[in-house]
Amino acid sequence: MGKKVLIAYATNRGNAKAVAEKLGAKIPGSQVVNIAETEADALKEYDYLILGTSSIGRGEMLKPWKDKIEDVAALDFSGKTVALFGLGNQAYHADTFAEGVSHIYDALKGKVTIEGATSTDGYKYDTSKSVVDNKFVGLILDQDAEADKADVRIDAWLKTLSI
Ligand SMILES: Cc1cc2nc3c(=O)[nH]c(=O)nc-3n(C[C@H](O)[C@H](O)[C@H](O)COP(=O)(O)O)c2cc1C
Repeated sequence: MGKKVLIAYATNRGNAKAVAEKLGAKIPGSQVVNIAETEADALKEYDYLILGTSSIGRGEMLKPWKDKIEDVAALDFSGKTVALFGLGNQAYHADTFAEGVSHIYDALKGKVTIEGATSTDGYKYDTSKSVVDNKFVGLILDQDAEADKADVRIDAWLKTLSI
């Protein structure tokens, strides 16, 4: 049996939901949930957690993640692995590009293995807190301007994960 994989997203207008569902379709047997409708405790049942959010405000994560992140960070992560995905808009939010997911990263770093960092090559932005040690902390997508690049980026990313 492979790992039990959960994909948990927050979305404002549906882009992150669509990405989560795309990931789910590419990971056989995985479950996809909206974190707004999920208790943090439900994450306990899974070995591999793919957590994602779009960005709102000035580089913030969406409210459902803000509401749950403390409870999620308090879980026992023994034996678990996390991978992250974040959405943003490079052209309109170049100085806070895809920073929403950086807050999930900050809450979980040091508590659990986070894998799936990606190269910043091919993106055009000024600054992003989602860049740590010169790499994005996870899969980063701009569905506003580069939705056509999503499939290639997703497929390349999935190959790097220990699912
Ligand atoms: C009010 C507002 C604020 C935003 N702030 C940011 C931001 O700080 N950084 C960023 O990269 N994208 C930002 N975005 C872009 C969204 O993250 C992007 O459009 C994303 O694809 C939306 O996904 P969703 O439909 O799942 O919420 C913002 C969008 C809106 C509407």
